[in-house]
Amino acid sequence: MIHLTIDGHSVFVEEGQSVLEAALQNNIYIPHLCHHPDLPELGSCRLCLVETDGTEGPQPSCSMTAEEGMVVRTRSEQIDHLRSLSMELLMAAHPEHCTSCPKYGRCEMQLLIQYMDATAARMHLRVKKTPKNVTPLLEHEMNRCVLCGRCVRACKDLRGVGVLQYNKADMETYVGTLHDKLLTEADCRFCGACAEVCPTGAIRDVVNFDATEKRDVLIPCVATCPAHAEIPTYVRYAAQGEYGKANAVIHEKLPFPEALGRVCTHKCEMECRHGVVTDAVSIREVKRVSAEKDEDLLWKKNAKQLPATGKNVAVVGGGPSGLTVAMLLQKQGHAVTVYEAREKTGGQMQYGIPAYRLPRNVVDKECHYAEEFGVTVETGTPIDRPQDLLKDCDAVVMAIGTTAGIRLPMEGSELPGTLLNSDFLKAASEGRKTGMGKNVIVLGGGNVAFDCARTAVRLGAESVTLACLEARENMLADEEEICEAIEEGVTVLPARSFEGILGQDAVSGMKLMTVKSFTFDENRRAVIEKEPGSEVELAVDTVIFAVGQRPALTEDCGLERGRGNTLITRDGMTSVPGIFACGDVVSGTKSVVEAIASARETARAVDRYLGGDGGIEETLLEREAHDPVLGCVPDFIHRPRRAPELLSAEERKTSFTQVSAGLQDKASEEASRCLQCDLRFDIHPPRSWNQYQKEERA
Ligand code: FES
Repeated sequence: MIHLTIDGHSVFVEEGQSVLEAALQNNIYIPHLCHHPDLPELGSCRLCLVETDGTEGPQPSCSMTAEEGMVVRTRSEQIDHLRSLSMELLMAAHPEHCTSCPKYGRCEMQLLIQYMDATAARMHLRVKKTPKNVTPLLEHEMNRCVLCGRCVRACKDLRGVGVLQYNKADMETYVGTLHDKLLTEADCRFCGACAEVCPTGAIRDVVNFDATEKRDVLIPCVATCPAHAEIPTYVRYAAQGEYGKANAVIHEKLPFPEALGRVCTHKCEMECRHGVVTDAVSIREVKRVSAEKDEDLLWKKNAKQLPATGKNVAVVGGGPSGLTVAMLLQKQGHAVTVYEAREKTGGQMQYGIPAYRLPRNVVDKECHYAEEFGVTVETGTPIDRPQDLLKDCDAVVMAIGTTAGIRLPMEGSELPGTLLNSDFLKAASEGRKTGMGKNVIVLGGGNVAFDCARTAVRLGAESVTLACLEARENMLADEEEICEAIEEGVTVLPARSFEGILGQDAVSGMKLMTVKSFTFDENRRAVIEKEPGSEVELAVDTVIFAVGQRPALTEDCGLERGRGNTLITRDGMTSVPGIFACGDVVSGTKSVVEAIASARETARAVDRYLGGDGGIEETLLEREAHDPVLGCVPDFIHRPRRAPELLSAEERKTSFTQVSAGLQDKASEEASRCLQCDLRFDIHPPRSWNQYQKEERA
C-alpha cells in the first residue's frame, strides 16, 4: 500500500492507483467526468485537477500515479479557475437543455453542473451535424455528447469490440462507427456498455426505466421466466461448452431441465432482447442440450441438504409442482412423502403431453430425482380427504393439478364419440383404446388441443380438424406446435364458434360458424359476434373437447374452492390450517414451468410454517467472475438462430417417436448468440459527489 496525504487526510491506496482513485476510494471527492473505474484513463475533461508538492501547477489527478509520501491539494484558486474553464468547455459541447433529456435526474453531467455551481444557461443551443444511430435497443444521439470518450473505451478496451471510434465532420469531432454505419450493420454486440458508462443522455437504452426496474427491463429473460432462472449465466456456460456448469445453474431453479428443454412455453424467448433486433436466442433448446450433455452432475454433488428437522410433510400429487415442492422441502430437512394417485409420477408430463414431444424415459429419469434426494414416493395412492393426513404429518401440500377435462354444454355434447382431452391423452399415453373414430375434430386452440390433434394423426385418424374461437394470430398454442401440426395434415380452422354436435345415437357431424370477433364478459363467458350465414357442417365421428381442464376435486375434500373448482389459498395455505396447495390446482391449467414456480413459493411458505426461514435457495455452482471481453464477431447480430433437427412430417405422422432431436452440436454456437445483457451490471454505477463523506463543495 502507498501512503499519501490529500487535503490533510492521511490515506492509503494500492500501488499503481491514480491520485484520483486514491481520493475517491478514501471518500474524498474530486470532480471528474471522463474517468470511470472500469476504463483506462483518457484525461480529456480536465476537471480532476489537483496540485502536489514539488510539481508545478494543477495536473489531472486521474492520470497521476499515487506515490509514497505525496502531498495533494484538491482545492486552490488556480484549480477552481481552471476547473471552471473545463466545465465551460464541456457545456459548450453539450448544446441541449436538460429538461428535454430522457436521462434527466440520472445524468452525471447534470450533477456536475450542480456541484460546480455552473449555470446551464451557458449551454449554447445548437444542433451538431453528427449522425444519429438509432436501433431497436440503443440510441446514439450525439448532440449531448461531451466527448468524454467513455463509450469508445468501453467498446474497445472493456469489451474488445471496437465498433465505436472518433470521427470528424465539419471540423467537429464526434463518436460514431466506421463509415457511420448503423450499429446493426457495424458488428455491435449490443451489450449496452456504451449506454451504461455514458455520463449524459447521448447514448441511452431505447426503453426507459427507473433504478428499481432496471434489471427486469434490461435482463427480461430472467424477469419473464416464472422461476427466474439465471438464463444469461447458463447460456454463457453453454456457449463455452461447459454444460455441467450450465446445468447446475439451471437446476438451482428448475428441477426438470430435460423435460423443460422440450416443452417449456419459453416465455423468456419472447422477451429476449436479441429478438428485438433480429431473432431471439433459442434458450429452451440450449437448456435441453445443457442437461443432456451434463457429465459432471455438479447439481447433484453440490445439492443442499439441511439437517433433519423431525417434521413430516405429505404432498398429494406427483406432477411437476408436487415433486418440486417435495424435493425443496426434503432439502430443508423435512421428511416428505408424495402420494400419487396414478401408477407413475410426472402428472401432465407423464399422462398429458404426448411422447413425441416428451419421451417417457426423460420423464421417468427426471421424476426419479425426488427419490434420489430422499423423498418417499407412494404411487397408486389416491387421497380424497387431505385432512386425514394431518393426523400423522405436520403439513400437507395439495398438488393434484387439473386432471378433469371440460365438456362444453352444447347440443350433442354427451353423444358417444365425444371425448375429453385429459381422458384421450391419458389413454393414448398408456397405450389403451381411446374411443377415437376415423374423422376427428378437436375443439380448442391451446397446446393441449394440438397435442390431441397430433395424437389423433398418429393413432391413424383419416382426417383431423382443429377449430377454435381465436383468430389465427391470437391462437394460444406455440407457433411451432401450430406449424408442425399443419405439416402433419391437421386442418386448422381459427375463428370458429361451436354451434352443436350432430348425430342421433353417436356423433355424425359438427356445426361451426365463422367468428367476426369475441370478448369475455366479467364472468369470463365468451361474447361472440358471428358472421351471418357462415354456418357449416363437418362430417366427423369424434369430437375431442380441449377447452381446458379443472381440478378433480369434490365437496369431500373439505377445502374452500373458487373459480374453475380451484383451491383458494392465502400465502400458499388453503382454508384448512396446515394444508397448503400449489400448481394448477390453485391457478388452473398452466405450464410446467409455472407449476414449478408456484411450488417454489409454496415450499417457502411451508418451510416457514414448520419453523424454518423459508430460504429454499441453493447454490449448486460457485460463480466465477465474468470475462468482460466479448470480442468482435463480424456480423454478430445477424448470425441466424439455429433450429433443431426435426423428423420429416411423413415420419412423424406414423409414430410417437420424438419429433425433435434438439440442437445437439449447434447448441454452443446458438448460445454464443446471447447478448449477455447481464454483463453491464458488472460495470460500476456512477457515484455522485454527495455520496462522498469528505467532499469539499466548490
Ligand atoms: Fe481526469 Fe477527466 S477525470 S481528466
